[in-house]
Amino acid sequence: AVLRLGDVAALRAQVRAWRNAGETVALVPTMGALHEGHLALVRQAQARCRRVVVSIFVNPTQFGPNEDFSRYPRVLEDDIALLAETGADAAYLPDVATMYPPGFATTVTVEGLTDVLCGPVRPGHFAGVATVVTKLLLQALPDVALFGEKDFQQLQVIRRAARDLDVPVAIEGVPTVREADGLALSSRNRYLSDEERRAAPTIHAVLQRVAAAVRGGAATAPALAEGRAALEAAGFGPVQYLSVNDAESLAPLERVAGPARVLVAAYLGRTRLIDNVAV
Ligand code: PAJ
Repeated sequence: AVLRLGDVAALRAQVRAWRNAGETVALVPTMGALHEGHLALVRQAQARCRRVVVSIFVNPTQFGPNEDFSRYPRVLEDDIALLAETGADAAYLPDVATMYPPGFATTVTVEGLTDVLCGPVRPGHFAGVATVVTKLLLQALPDVALFGEKDFQQLQVIRRAARDLDVPVAIEGVPTVREADGLALSSRNRYLSDEERRAAPTIHAVLQRVAAAVRGGAATAPALAEGRAALEAAGFGPVQYLSVNDAESLAPLERVAGPARVLVAAYLGRTRLIDNVAV
């Protein structure tokens, strides 16, 4: 069975007990509505550490005023059943008052990396993510914490914050899990209508096409213009960005010379989808 830990004291007592028994501990932070993408993080965590804690917390501070916080799926008992099947040891389930007690006043902001891509279109989002993840890392103090490449900018922001604040936890990225047709698994895919679901794989096809076109060092602008047009033709809009960026600094690239990523954020109806691939 999966242990349910409701507050910081319970989490720390459990981690301490494991450590006293000589066991290593991994943390997988999530917002629940778990799918095979999340479970891939759990499995990689199990390969790294003896014990795995999955946190489930729909973090209000990373949602904008017009975003989907209130309708974000909350399916705790389904999540616990999936975690039990996968063999996770514990679920950490803090409530909002545990994470943000009255008087809470401290924010972790990461500069530079958040000036591009999702940063400008989701003001405050990455400060919310960096703050809650820093808290989760300090609450659990695991050996390793795992994050998906699906949210590539988030992964880079978290790496930077952990490094800059000397948080003694190894941050590890996990490749994106996709449906057979290329659509990246996401808790938000359940918002898609049947028709939107049929159009959704275009996002991955476009990313792959752009990656192939710019791999040898050709100018990125024409490939990106074509990709944008293909997304719009498939019914996406607005396309917030389609961009080729340095894989580490996330600086936009006119041509690829080293490790790079193609990244996209686009609406399909009311649903905002993001995805990225390596060049
Ligand atoms: P959430 O969207 O629930 O995602 C939790 C973790 O699962 C993230 O690291 C995300 O990148 C990863 N993930 C999601 N879909 C994936 C897929 N298809 N393949 C591989 N990994 C995938 O991201 C968050 O929650 C929050 O911002 C959080 C980090 C928990 C902070 O609140």
